[in-house]
Amino acid sequence: MNPLITPQSYFSEDIFKKEISQIFGNQWIFAGFLRNLKNDNDFITLEVGTQSIVVQNFKGKIKSFLNVCTHRFSKIQCEKQGNRSMTCPYHGWSYNAEGLPFGIPKKPNFGEMTKEDLQSLSLKKFDVEICGEFIFIKNASSENTVSLNEYLGDTKDILLKVSDSLGKEIDCNELEIDANWKIAVENTLEAYHISSVHPTTFKPIFGEQKVIASKGDHSYIEVDLETGFDKIQNIYSSKPFALNGYLHVFVFPNLTIASSYGASFSIQQFIPLSQGKTKFVSYVFQTILDENLLSKRDQIIVSSMNDSIVEFNRTVFSEDKYICEQVQKGAQMTSQAGILSVDEIRVLDFHKAYNKHLS
Ligand code: FES
Ligand SMILES: [Fe+2]
Repeated sequence: MNPLITPQSYFSEDIFKKEISQIFGNQWIFAGFLRNLKNDNDFITLEVGTQSIVVQNFKGKIKSFLNVCTHRFSKIQCEKQGNRSMTCPYHGWSYNAEGLPFGIPKKPNFGEMTKEDLQSLSLKKFDVEICGEFIFIKNASSENTVSLNEYLGDTKDILLKVSDSLGKEIDCNELEIDANWKIAVENTLEAYHISSVHPTTFKPIFGEQKVIASKGDHSYIEVDLETGFDKIQNIYSSKPFALNGYLHVFVFPNLTIASSYGASFSIQQFIPLSQGKTKFVSYVFQTILDENLLSKRDQIIVSSMNDSIVEFNRTVFSEDKYICEQVQKGAQMTSQAGILSVDEIRVLDFHKAYNKHLS
C-alpha cells in the first residue's frame, strides 16, 4: 500500500502552518482531564504550535481562551496547571467567563471605554466539550460546526468507559521529541516496529492481534498479551473495564489511549510545537480500586505492578522517541514515498483522515 503523506510533509514549515490552522485550529483536539479542573479557578494550559491556550473553571463552567492578555500581550496563566483567577500577571487585568476584561486597574487612565471597546478587548475563544474525563477544545472562530459527539462517533463509548475506570494517576511523563507530530502519532499506530525497537520490553509480551478497526477518523486495536496477569487478576476483580489483553485507541489528531486488562490506562497527548518538534505527554492511571479492601499483600502487589507499568512505559517511550528522531532525520533526506504493509493499516487510516481535514 502506498502512504498518502509525502516525506516533505514531515518537515515543511508551510505544511506545518497549514496543519496548525486547518487541523489543530479547526478540529476538536484533546486538551486535558476534567479531574484537573474540578474547582473554581482551576486551570490547565497547552501550547499548540506558536499558541498558548488556557482551559479554566469559572465557578463551575469550563471555558477556554487564547492565553494572551489583550492589553499588551503577556501570557495570563504562566504555569502548566494550577488554581488562580484569570488575572494577567503584568498589569493585573482580570477576565471573566466570557473572556471580557472586567477588572482593569486605573481604568480611567485609558480614557472612556465603551462596551464595544471592552468587547474588542475580549480574549479569543475556544469551544469546550467534554466526554467523560476528556476535555476537547476547538477554535470558536473555525468554520467547523461538527459537535464533539458527532466527531467522536462510536469512539465516544470507549472514552466514557475509560473515564469510568480511571483511578489514581501514577505517572505523568513529558518528552520533547525532535520529530514531526505525525511521525510520533504514526509510530503508535503500528506494531510492526515492536520486534526491532522494543525487543526486551513490548516484544516478549505482545501476542496475537484480535481486532483492528477504523472508526471514521479514529481507530483501535485489541491484542492478546502474555504477561501472567491471570495469576493476580483476582486482585483487580472489581475493575469496571472488562478487557482480556491490550487495547489501543487513537482519537484523531492527538490522543491515544492504551490499556492492559483494564487494570491500568496509559493516555498520551501529542502537541505539535514546530514542524520538527513534538511535546509528548504520557499519563498512567491505575484502574479504580478500593485499596482499603485489599489485604496488605495485595496492596504491595498493586504498588509493585504500578511501579513496573511506569518503568515499562518510560522505557518504551524513550525507545520510541529515539526511533522517531531517526525517522525525522531520514525524512529530510529523501523524496521516495515509502510503502506500508497490512500491519500498518492504521497509519494509512491516519493519512486518510489527515488528508481529509487538510484539504
Ligand atoms: S499585559 Fe496584561 S495587563 Fe498588561
Ligand atoms: Fe513503539
